[in-house]
Amino acid sequence: MKSKPAIAPLYLSATYKFENSDDLIDVVQNQSGYIYSRWDNPSVVEVEEVMAEMEGYEKALGFSSGMAAISSAVLSQVKAGSRIVSTQEIYGATYELMNDLLPTLNIDTVLINCNDVDRLLNEIDKGLDILYLETPTNPLLRVVDVQMLAEAAHKKGAIVILDGTFASPVNQRPVDLGVDILIHSATKFLGGHHDILAGIVCCNKSFYHSIWTHRKILGGTMDPMTAFLLRRGLRTLELRVQRQNETAMAVAKYLDQHEKIQKTYYPGLTSHPDHEIAKRQMSGFGGMVSFDIAGDFEQTKGFMDRLKTIALATSLGGITSLANQPITNTHVALSPENRIKAGVSENLVRLSVGIEKQEDLIEDLKQALEQV
Ligand SMILES: Cc1ncc(COP(=O)(O)O)c(C=O)c1O
Repeated sequence: MKSKPAIAPLYLSATYKFENSDDLIDVVQNQSGYIYSRWDNPSVVEVEEVMAEMEGYEKALGFSSGMAAISSAVLSQVKAGSRIVSTQEIYGATYELMNDLLPTLNIDTVLINCNDVDRLLNEIDKGLDILYLETPTNPLLRVVDVQMLAEAAHKKGAIVILDGTFASPVNQRPVDLGVDILIHSATKFLGGHHDILAGIVCCNKSFYHSIWTHRKILGGTMDPMTAFLLRRGLRTLELRVQRQNETAMAVAKYLDQHEKIQKTYYPGLTSHPDHEIAKRQMSGFGGMVSFDIAGDFEQTKGFMDRLKTIALATSLGGITSLANQPITNTHVALSPENRIKAGVSENLVRLSVGIEKQEDLIEDLKQALEQV
């Protein structure tokens, strides 16, 4: 054959056949090949190799969702009596893992407001096993100083885990900030088309085996079809995210000067409280913009209902723009007091900017704001 497929085939096989029993025994004993797809699959391995290379780690592992990645990675590094320090602003299901599930296993979790750097450092100073961070945060896009906190945690002998979903690999380089285990919900920017649920963990060899074993036991391995679609998404990741960065900046500037907008949250705006950290830590400010409408809950709901180009949906990071009112879905479980503490108002809108034309998105926002 003088040619071969330009794109690697999709291996939908759940299992692998051997020439003879000696080969099977050898592969199982030495883990030197494919045995069963909950363990490893060639289509998943292909995307794992791309991710490890892209993020600058020795290894990567594919999971069936961001939450499968987060729960397996965290569980692989703790035992009864372990202590985790994290922030209040982590993703909702991660918060449930930290606040509700892990304490039942006798794992101590301390969740501090991410603005309160002194308290965070103080809790790190008391000793910990894991520092678990997420930046930029959801939905107010706070930017946490990863390098500074990671240095403090490492001095105490702790591991640093980061959920880098909102930044994507294009805007942030966690390996250079001291992150030991990096996680992405690949459902978002990495997949990029709102058509897969997936998670990725990147780490060096010393963490790989324990995370791999937890993935095998808990069963949240990425399936080959998802891996194939994720591999395709990654081919356009940089193009998409660069465009999302540019459009989000233009949208944020437009909203920031609009009389019907009370406040705009975007790390690229000089008014953002973490703009200086973001400038240092990120190479682009990302595709997420949040804003408070100058109105009440009903007026904000009306605004959402008038959007035409921008779809009313949860999730983020894909080619089509999505908007949601966090208190109606992602933050519905928070009590009113906790909502206020988290800064999630009834008139807050979170927008995930897609790759549509800038003018079309601004036009859509303009017409939906007219009647507020
Ligand atoms: C920052 C962040 N981490 C993790 C997750 C969970 O990812 P998944 O829905 O793929 O399980 C999400 C989902 O929205 C997220 O936004």
